Amino acid sequence: MTSRLLGLVELMFHLYVTLDDIFPISNDFAVVEVIKCLLHYISIGADIRVRLNFQDGDLEVRLPFGSHSRLFLSEVNKAWSAQSLQVKTSILWPCSQGKVKREGWDELKREGRHDLVHQSSHTASNKATMLAMPQFGLRDNLIRFAELYCAGFQELDLSKVAFFFNDTPKETEWMKAVSEGLHPDAKYALVKLVRLVGIMLLFYVRNEHAKHISEMEAETVGTGIMGRMGNKGAVAIRFRFHNSDICVVNSHLAAHIEEYERRNQDYKDICSRLLFHQHDPALAPLTIMKHNVVLWLGDLNYRLSDLDVDNVKDLIAKKDFEVLHSYDQVGCFRGLCGGKNRLPATYKYDTGSDQWDTSEKCRVPAWCDRILWRGKNVRQLHYQSHMDLKTSDHKPVSSLLEMGIKLVNEESYKKTFEEIVRLLDKMENECIPSVMLSRREVHFKDVKFMQHQAETLTLHNDGQVPCQFEFIQKLDEPTYCKPWLTANPAKGFIAQGGKVDIDLEVFVNRSTATELNAGHQQIEDMLVLHLERGKDYFLSVSSNYLPSCFGSSIQTLCQLRDPIQEIPLETIRELTSSGDETRTLMIDKPLDIPKEIWQMVDHLYRNAPKQGELFQQPGLHREFVEIRDCLDTGMPESLPGSNHSVAEALLLFLDTLPEPVIPFSLYQQCLECCSNTSQCKKVVSLLPQCHKNVFNYIAAFLRELLKHSTHNSLDVNILATIFAALLLRSPTKQDLAEKRKTQEFFQHFLVQDLS
Ligand SMILES: *[C@@H]1O[C@H](CO)[C@@H](O)[C@H](O)[C@H]1NC(C)=O
Ligand SMILES: *[C@@H]1O[C@H](CO)[C@@H](O)[C@H](O)[C@H]1NC(C)=O
Ligand SMILES: *[C@@H]1O[C@H](CO)[C@@H](O)[C@H](O)[C@H]1NC(C)=O
Repeated sequence: MTSRLLGLVELMFHLYVTLDDIFPISNDFAVVEVIKCLLHYISIGADIRVRLNFQDGDLEVRLPFGSHSRLFLSEVNKAWSAQSLQVKTSILWPCSQGKVKREGWDELKREGRHDLVHQSSHTASNKATMLAMPQFGLRDNLIRFAELYCAGFQELDLSKVAFFFNDTPKETEWMKAVSEGLHPDAKYALVKLVRLVGIMLLFYVRNEHAKHISEMEAETVGTGIMGRMGNKGAVAIRFRFHNSDICVVNSHLAAHIEEYERRNQDYKDICSRLLFHQHDPALAPLTIMKHNVVLWLGDLNYRLSDLDVDNVKDLIAKKDFEVLHSYDQVGCFRGLCGGKNRLPATYKYDTGSDQWDTSEKCRVPAWCDRILWRGKNVRQLHYQSHMDLKTSDHKPVSSLLEMGIKLVNEESYKKTFEEIVRLLDKMENECIPSVMLSRREVHFKDVKFMQHQAETLTLHNDGQVPCQFEFIQKLDEPTYCKPWLTANPAKGFIAQGGKVDIDLEVFVNRSTATELNAGHQQIEDMLVLHLERGKDYFLSVSSNYLPSCFGSSIQTLCQLRDPIQEIPLETIRELTSSGDETRTLMIDKPLDIPKEIWQMVDHLYRNAPKQGELFQQPGLHREFVEIRDCLDTGMPESLPGSNHSVAEALLLFLDTLPEPVIPFSLYQQCLECCSNTSQCKKVVSLLPQCHKNVFNYIAAFLRELLKHSTHNSLDVNILATIFAALLLRSPTKQDLAEKRKTQEFFQHFLVQDLS
């Protein structure tokens, strides 16, 4: 609904459609702000929920904070005034509190912040409320006066509900605690709250600045297993403040001292996958690093390498930070800096104390928790850790930063812009644009499943005028290139005599792998590069694709006794060309289950039955590549990689099956009978033979793992949640109720011995 409305708002201002055309502004029309019942204070600038009433209609919408909503509400207001209606409630945006009238409002205001802070009957277990307790001296200690506040949390909630369903009551608790703890000398608006499982970011701005904030967006990226689970990852916001683009990231990277490589991979993943869409859909999404200022905070989990516990504690006691930092794994986090860090280590303490970890593991102290930044004109004024807060085994850190903000002089901007347009018009009329391409053919060698490859093409503007280029789609094609290819940038501007590098990237994911594996499609494409007011250039792209078991069907793989890359493409094509029903088996005796599944499951069964965090801790991409190659070529003989990488490969394999283990056609039936064990068993008996074998084999393996639950901490709930999502994929979008039913279905096969 939100985006539709925004679309309408844009439409309104571009096409001069009036508001009346969209909403009937009549005598019985009203807009009422919906009170968020848990919030006793208003947060100006936060997402706002309004209810629109007209005639019999009643529509509740949530408007994201930002210029579009502002525009929309001010138009609504204007339309009202024009009709001089008797308005039940008025909303102004950004609203000043006095103008919002609603029942109980004055009372709420009187209660105010101070009363909440002075409450003294908190229970110690409620960590969120503790933040606001006077004895922590937060006002004096933590909260320095600032114009904008960002507060980041990690591991907000470690419960399974939070992990699997991304839902937690802690969100509101902590948000209240922070809102009430901001500096008392000014009023702040909560502009954005974004959360992924336990990683949360809050962004506040002083009321008087709210109107200068625009293009507010929030995104999240999970880097947990299969890039989906949100126990690790990042949340981020971007916004424009006056004319500066600012991005704030809060991340929680992989833990454990030896997982250094995994942390770097998480960081890279976050940078490449976290994309903010722009209001103009024709513009490429913005990455984190495209912003003028980037603030990066969180539990980055980087440790000190090669120093033992006693050494570290000794150096900390001597305050020898120079030596300590020379062992720091974080280095200069790819162009982000953190200033001089002379704080006590932030990790790891016995919860509730200032004692170093006294547990058996006796973790080495480290600076896991950081506040880093990137951008011109950023200066750290203050940096501090908060030893008084004892609710966690980490100590929180805070930093006060000063940022230079760009302000465009509208008048001279307009003048310069008009001058340039005039100049361009004149030149355009005189000359035809032209470019030189550094190559007309691009060949990628040995493209593989889930392995990124890039080649660069350079455009050189050798014409007499600046030019505008764009890859355009060919007749009858929906996009300018095949789905496995992207050109970055796909359009742009080149000054006269200038150059632009275009990255052509190939990435075969699960949507495209099946057709390529089966030989029904090749990596071949022809791109058309169009110059505005100029001619078209053609660019051919080709590659040899190396087929993979990932993305191939169970049926096909059961008929391949040898690794897929040793089979002639012609054979695979024949095997996969007939429809499902009519397919005749090509070999006399197909395998019971694909040997690749056997190889991965057997590996885990033999090596990792007692591994903790199995199927929850992600593996390394580098090792996935080796495992894939081993399955596809048969070399080496046994699977490489850690337990976690093999486990993730197995999940990915199930996830990329074009037809899931429970075929789409039986999915609905599974939901219907999910509470009845004998009916569930009956559905499984209806599966095609090789699907049935795979299902039973995996269920048996998981029951085996559950026998070691004292060591691996797995339980029926965790396994049902993870595997039901892969074995029973929905042909359409799944809602939460459906998801729970698939889990209930699969649980029948985990709890009992079906032999
Ligand atoms: C695969 O890649 C295409 C093109 O980048 C994308 O549109 C699609 O969503 C991806 N599919 C999956 C399952 O990630
Ligand atoms: C795999 O897990 C087992 C426990 O079942 C452990 O002993 C072994 O070291 C792990 N292997 C690797 C390579 O981590
Ligand atoms: C489950 O289904 C079977 C067969 O349809 C039926 O006989 C049985 O009563 C059902 N059990 C329960 C607990 O509903």
